Amino acid sequence: MQQNTGIAITGSGSAVPTACLENQAMTALVETSDEWITTRTGIKNRRITSERESLSSLAAAASLKAIAMAGITAQDIDLILLTTSTPDDLFGSACQVQAALGANHAVAFDLTAACSGFLFGMVTAAQYIRTGVYQNVLLIGADILSRWVDWGDRTTCVLFGDGAGAVVMQASASDKLLGFELKSDGTQNHFLNLAYVPNTQELAPGITVSKGGYQAITMNGKEVYRFAVQKVPEVIDKALFRAHLSAEDIDWLLLHQANQRILDAVAQRLHVPKDKVISNLANYGNTSAASIPIALDEAVRCGKIKANDTIAASGFGAGLTWGAAIFKWGK
Ligand code: ACO
Repeated sequence: MQQNTGIAITGSGSAVPTACLENQAMTALVETSDEWITTRTGIKNRRITSERESLSSLAAAASLKAIAMAGITAQDIDLILLTTSTPDDLFGSACQVQAALGANHAVAFDLTAACSGFLFGMVTAAQYIRTGVYQNVLLIGADILSRWVDWGDRTTCVLFGDGAGAVVMQASASDKLLGFELKSDGTQNHFLNLAYVPNTQELAPGITVSKGGYQAITMNGKEVYRFAVQKVPEVIDKALFRAHLSAEDIDWLLLHQANQRILDAVAQRLHVPKDKVISNLANYGNTSAASIPIALDEAVRCGKIKANDTIAASGFGAGLTWGAAIFKWGK
C-alpha cells in the first residue's frame, strides 16, 4: 500500500489565560491612553497569565481541543512540536505538554522562531509527514510574553498578550499544503530582542562564568513595522507562486496579529479586500507564536473559515524571521 504524504490540517484549538487587561488599566502603569493604543495598534485587551497558569497548561488546553476536532486521540500523535520563545523550562516545555496529554507515543520538542514560530513549525512538521516518517503531528504555538515585558516601557508593554493555539496536521491522500516560503535575516537581529545579559563571576583565578539572566523585550517598533509591511507581501507572493496561485485565489489572509495597521497595509499591497482579513488582535494583542493558531481556531469555530477555503498565512518577528504558507483548511 502506498503511504499518504500529502498534508491536511484537520483540527484546531486555542486557550488563553483568564485575566483580561484593558487599555484603560494600562494608563495606571505607563503614560498612555486607550485612544493612542487603539488608533496606533487596534489593540483593546490582552490576556495575562497568572501564577496558577503556565505555558504548558495553556498549550495542553489548546491541544486537547485540536485533537478532539481532528477526531483522533492523544495516543495517535507521533510528533508534538511546541513553537514558543517563552517555555516554562529553558530545556523545553514540549515534553511537559506530552505528559499532560498522555501522548505517550509522541516524540516532543520545542522550536523557537519568535512570532514566526507557528509558520516555521508548520513547515517543519510538513517535512516529517512528506517523508512518510510521521502521520499525525500536533503543532502548538504558545507564548507568555507578559513574563518578559518591561511593564514600565510604554513602547512595548501595550502590545503583547499571552495565549496558546494548536492544530493537528495529518498525512492525507490529498495535499492541502500548497506552498510555503521561509526567511531569516540575522543582520537585523538588534531590532527586536529578549537577550541574555551576562553577570560575570570569577570561579577560579582566570576562569569566569557568565551567570546572568534575560533582560526585558526591547524593540525598535518603527524598523519592525517597516520590515513587516515590506517583507510580508513579498513572502506571501513567493508562497503563492509556489502554490501556482495568485492573491485573487485567497479566501482568507491570516497574518501574525501584531498591529491592525500592519494587517491593513499588507492586505492593501496584495489587493486583498478587508473582509478577507482575519483579525482578532483587539481582544488579545500580539501573542507571538500563538497569534496565528488562535485566530485560525476562532475563525474556524465561528464558521468563517470553511472546509477547503484557501488560506494565506504569514508570520514575522524577531530573528528577524518571516514566512508564509498557503493551505486549504480541513480534511
Ligand atoms: N502610549 C502613548 N504614546 C506612546 C506609546 C504609548 N503606549 N508608545 C509610544 N508612544 C509615543 C512615542 O514616544 C512617540 O512620541 P514622540 O513622537 O514624542 O517621540 C509617539 O508615540 C510615536 O511613536 P512611534 O514609535 O512613532 O509610534 P508608531 O506609530 O510607530 O507605533 C508601534 C509604534 C505600535 C510599536 C509600531 O511601530 C509597531 O507596531 N511596530 C511593529 C511591532 C511588531 O509588529 N512587532 C512584531 C514582532 S513581535 C515579536 O516577534 C515578538
